[in-house]
Amino acid sequence: MKALEGVKILDFTHVQSGPTCTQLLAWFGADVIKVERPGVGDATRKQLVDKPGADSLYFTMLNHNKRSIELNSKTPEGKEVLTKLIETCDVLVENFAPGALDRMGFGWERIQEINPRIIMASVKGFGPGRYEECKVYENIAQCAGGSASTTGWRDDLPMVTGAQIGDSGTGLHLALGIVTALYQRTHSGRGQRVLAPMQDGVLNLCRVKLRDQQRLESGPLEEYSQFGEGIPFGEAVPRAGNDSGGGQPGRILKCKGWEDDPNAYTYFITQAAVWDKVCDVIGKPEWKDDPDYTTPKARLPRLNHIFATIEEWTMTKTKFEVMDICNPLDIPVGPILSMKEIAADEDLRKTGTLVEVDHPERGKYLSVGCPVKLSDSPVDVTRSPLLGEHTAEVLRDVLGYDGEALARILESGAVGNAKLAAE
Ligand code: COA
Repeated sequence: MKALEGVKILDFTHVQSGPTCTQLLAWFGADVIKVERPGVGDATRKQLVDKPGADSLYFTMLNHNKRSIELNSKTPEGKEVLTKLIETCDVLVENFAPGALDRMGFGWERIQEINPRIIMASVKGFGPGRYEECKVYENIAQCAGGSASTTGWRDDLPMVTGAQIGDSGTGLHLALGIVTALYQRTHSGRGQRVLAPMQDGVLNLCRVKLRDQQRLESGPLEEYSQFGEGIPFGEAVPRAGNDSGGGQPGRILKCKGWEDDPNAYTYFITQAAVWDKVCDVIGKPEWKDDPDYTTPKARLPRLNHIFATIEEWTMTKTKFEVMDICNPLDIPVGPILSMKEIAADEDLRKTGTLVEVDHPERGKYLSVGCPVKLSDSPVDVTRSPLLGEHTAEVLRDVLGYDGEALARILESGAVGNAKLAAE
């Protein structure tokens, strides 16, 4: 049995944020029914296409383990089917632009009327306030949530990160809200609204930067390299390059081969607990007794010199040799891995975090599996559905349409080409 077995999700999501959420719920065992516009589907199906005619990797990698039903929810028959889906499902997940569901005639009031036990979960760009009506994509959320202003180099532009903290990050937040609401429903018997605004999700992930904003009022941020360089701080938290955010200073340092390989680097943390070992390994045993270096506080103004010295050592080793030498000594280091290296990682494949999936239109492709492991609820990654692949099946088996009633819906045009699939 899977953890969320028996939970039915009406998946009205598209693009990235919502689909990452419902994909996780599907991996945990929920029956996720993705509702898509007839003949069109989720816009990502045909975005960033690498194999003409086939669903894109953008779509397939975000929609595993789901069923797809084509439904025009703006026609009378479409509304009828959607109403039945709302009656039947435990959760409705959506990430339409603000107001879209109301315009469709399915605002929260109406949805509650249809099914008071349903949980309605939404991703929006912003929560209530002056921007609540705005459409938002990933990078806007990164900028409005405080990430971009604190990422990158001090004397350069604000920068967005490669990690999709606005979309996938918010999808994760939403999934937690949904399972929490499902748990509360076991006591209250009622559904509720779950809202995960992308700005709020990004800010939550930038919590340490709001911490630093307040620390700034008490003086300079001594672990930031600009402190050691004698550069005064302004009024807001600056961009800190690759400085480690915590009390354990760290930097990205060159390794052997850096001249030709853009990823021949290691992250190196001078954790206080293993400082003596760091001194030994880089050939500076004298630092162990030098009052300029013995305490973390004494080291703070000298971090640039310290890391330059460590780098002289890391440049004589590959990033993997640095790992092999430092890990047995408990010195926290990590190689900068390229996507090419990650794609070939045997351990990640063994744990199912990297999976090969077969798809009828595109053949085998590599995907990221479920990154959270439940010992009693193993994940089986199955391919994403073709557009409308399960329309007839859902109408019959989930909603109980049969005979004339089924024929009426199939012929109405509200469900795409499902007629063919039903025959
Ligand atoms: N049947 C009928 N109509 C449908 C439908 C269906 N099955 N599915 C969608 N539609 C309609 C919607 O009702 C909407 O119509 P309306 O404008 O008349 O209300 C229309 O399709 C477009 O939906 P919308 O959500 O506005 O898509 P968009 O492509 O214009 O905007 C986003 C995309 C992502 C910017 C927007 O959805 C958004 O801001 N979402 C919230 C934040 C978010 O999740 N952003 C990150 C995405 S990764």
